[in-house]
Amino acid sequence: MEKVMEKVLVNSADVYKGYLILVNKDYPLKKESVSRERLSGIGEGICLENRTASMLMQLLNELKAKKKITAVSGYRSFKEQEKIYTNSLDENGREFTEKYVALPGASEHQTGLAIDLGETKKEINFLCPEFPYKGICQEFREKAASYGFIQRYEKEKEGITGIGHEPWHFRYVGYPHSKIMREGNLTLEEYTEEIENHPYGENPLVFGEGKQKVEISYLEMGEGEERALSFLADAIYQVSGNNKKGVIITKWQGR
Ligand code: DAL
Ligand code: ZN
Repeated sequence: MEKVMEKVLVNSADVYKGYLILVNKDYPLKKESVSRERLSGIGEGICLENRTASMLMQLLNELKAKKKITAVSGYRSFKEQEKIYTNSLDENGREFTEKYVALPGASEHQTGLAIDLGETKKEINFLCPEFPYKGICQEFREKAASYGFIQRYEKEKEGITGIGHEPWHFRYVGYPHSKIMREGNLTLEEYTEEIENHPYGENPLVFGEGKQKVEISYLEMGEGEERALSFLADAIYQVSGNNKKGVIITKWQGR
């Protein structure tokens, strides 16, 4: 029987959007505005990108942690990040600010994919909330990758991320990327670089768990370029930019 194929168009604007975009001072955010929603029952008026919000709530529900963990900061506009940065310069000085606050335009919080969490208490520090390596916070940390989240700024990776150790800052990248990064102890900087070694149509990075097999590969996009990719009509796939020069294609097989 002939296989039914579906064509998917990818263009150079796709490089700057999606769940795998790397946002740091070398690769500032190019495109703001994703669909967002307000979290309910955890933190006051905190917004996140829709899927990020939904996965966070599912994880907290599974852990029965909605009262024990507080959402401290989620989506921030450029202006809000700028305000936080300049206030911190005044209050905490340059060294602290450069370590714990991203430059306006270079913060993951502007993507709606990042969330700062604190253990629920009367007083929670806004910039550096306590999220200890024990109890419910550690349970959250251990389950996070199954729900698509990574702890983004690890102590031993400060030289790579350019940001200080932040036990409270989690970033949604989606499963299985979160799992691969966690198992390989990779930052998003390292992971996006690794995927560049797996060109689309040649040698994908293969992740397998149970009957499921996932192929992950990289497609570089020239300025203004448009490409038509072919997938089997019933395939499950996702395309995300890396916010550098290309897109990452994730293809699920064997449901
Ligand atoms: N605290 C992180 C680095 C931010 O400001 O985005
Ligand atoms: Zn944060």
